[in-house]
Amino acid sequence: MSVSQPRRVTCGELRAQASGDRVELSGWVNSSRDHGGLIFIDLRDRFGLTQLVIDPRAIGEAASLRAEDVIRATGLVRRRPAGTENEKLETGEVEVAVDALTVLNRSKTPPFPIHTDGEVDESLRLRFRYLDLRRPHLQRNIALRHRAVKAVRDYLDAQGFFEIETPMLIKQTPEGARDFIVPSRLHPGDFYALPQSPQLFKQLLMVAGFQRYFQIARCFRDEDTRADRQPEFTQIDLEMAFPTQDDVIAVMEGTLANMFFEALGEKVPTPFVRLSHAQALAEYGSDKPDLRFGMKLQDVSAAFAGTEFKIFAAALAAGQAIVGFVESGGARRSRREFDALAATAGEFGAKGLVWIARAADGTKSSMPKTALTDELMGALERAAGFSVGDAMYLVADAREAAQLIAGKLRLHVADERGLRDPRRFAFCWVLDFPLFERDAESGALTPAHHPFTAPAPGSESLQGDPLQLRAQHYDVVLNGMELGSGSIRIHDPAMQRKIFALLGYSPEEVERRFGFLLEAFEYGAPPHGGIALGVDRIILLMAGGQSIRETIAFPKNQRFQDLMIDAPTAVEPKILRELHLRVDVDPVRRP
Ligand code: AMO
Repeated sequence: MSVSQPRRVTCGELRAQASGDRVELSGWVNSSRDHGGLIFIDLRDRFGLTQLVIDPRAIGEAASLRAEDVIRATGLVRRRPAGTENEKLETGEVEVAVDALTVLNRSKTPPFPIHTDGEVDESLRLRFRYLDLRRPHLQRNIALRHRAVKAVRDYLDAQGFFEIETPMLIKQTPEGARDFIVPSRLHPGDFYALPQSPQLFKQLLMVAGFQRYFQIARCFRDEDTRADRQPEFTQIDLEMAFPTQDDVIAVMEGTLANMFFEALGEKVPTPFVRLSHAQALAEYGSDKPDLRFGMKLQDVSAAFAGTEFKIFAAALAAGQAIVGFVESGGARRSRREFDALAATAGEFGAKGLVWIARAADGTKSSMPKTALTDELMGALERAAGFSVGDAMYLVADAREAAQLIAGKLRLHVADERGLRDPRRFAFCWVLDFPLFERDAESGALTPAHHPFTAPAPGSESLQGDPLQLRAQHYDVVLNGMELGSGSIRIHDPAMQRKIFALLGYSPEEVERRFGFLLEAFEYGAPPHGGIALGVDRIILLMAGGQSIRETIAFPKNQRFQDLMIDAPTAVEPKILRELHLRVDVDPVRRP
């Protein structure tokens, strides 16, 4: 019998119908078992796993195969013997009886197991990221990211957007973080900055008449890393000419709904819920509310008018507010649990936490009994729906501080109760942001978004208390995480100069840093607006993970290091000389 030319297949494609076919597969040894003189190999590639059966008497090398060796095998596909099928594998009905084997490369013993997602120290994973990336959950996340970004490109293309690249070597853009700077060899003493976002270029693309721009844009920000932040990250960045706020919102809702459907098969209902910034704070104690569950905050100051409870009476007299929420069924908690919640509220900045547990056999509270009047309970029932069986948590402080603390406690209680289901997706828009806020440390006026954001109708005169001015700024939020921020921009150079002046920029500084933008606005700049979404965060939520490092092929660790390539590192003195730079760090003291 002449041996037919084998068909090249992936490790994910063989089914029972292929029985009798001669095939060739290449991949990594996922596992190897010796059963009664036959060697069973699970061969892995990106597409799946296929079981190979090898007789080591015919193919001696089979006995020496170890996990992660790279091989090519040829053989006949056959059905697995009845009862040995593996339902968990798509190829689980068949196996390949190998008649020829080539070892393409050997692998050292990997520093951690590749074929499972077991817990491994993250530094070790980052040091051997190329091995980590072979593991199932990162393979899934990277595939998800690919599908999601492709869906964005397809959708925005269909909506008439052009993808346009903008430069990486630029000058400072004020997005609120520190810049990474790059020295210029040709202009000694001068530096480029890496973009914190393509903000000004996308505005200039509107001046340039492109009307609908997007980019899957790399951004660089020298800011503290957190689970949802990387120094280098990716945005879906877009800008439109002549839009209303609703136009940008509609494009974004379409983009996200299409992305979730194409990448996850998830039907996201549109339009998304809309909340004003003030409402988000009042009801959820956050400008990125998690709407997967209720437990809305209530201002119950009025219920405590005339209270005997001295702390609340003093707070009300000082103009503070009493903000709280009801945990349905919470009365079952033990005193220890309430004390633990009070300690947690303290970590969130509460000066104290009042809890009231309204059980069928009586009411318990951290407040003195005398303060727990029927009148109070009636008022709390009317104001907040506080019923028998429930617990209520109350914080007194300046209104916004009380809201923020109660908001954090709300999330904490929800986490304890398992109410933050990662498989549910609750999108919303937060609108009507203030134009400015005060920097907590310096007390300086800073933009709530960035200085190119247009004031809302009614705030355009920029008169009065700057903190009361409103902006045409919108955020899209998913499950308590800010996915994206955007705004209608200023296109009038006079208005832009006024905003810079309010922010304390001198005319010289404005000219030096933003002269090109103001000049562009003198040449028929159309009204424009846009938004940017964090890709890494979206994939994080799609994948139900904990850290955006799990969504990026080669992320930095918490200290901004790439442990695999060992960056950042010192450079040779010759390079520094060419750049006219001198390093002023004691080499011994370098961490
Ligand atoms: P903003 O600064 O709000 O707006 O950023 C938009 C979105 O980018 C994501 N993001 C990050 N993701 C990971 N790591 C980081 N360090 C990080 N910083 C931001 C977030 C955020 O919501 N140019 C404006 C947008 C505009 O006005 O059109 C901008 O960059 O998901």
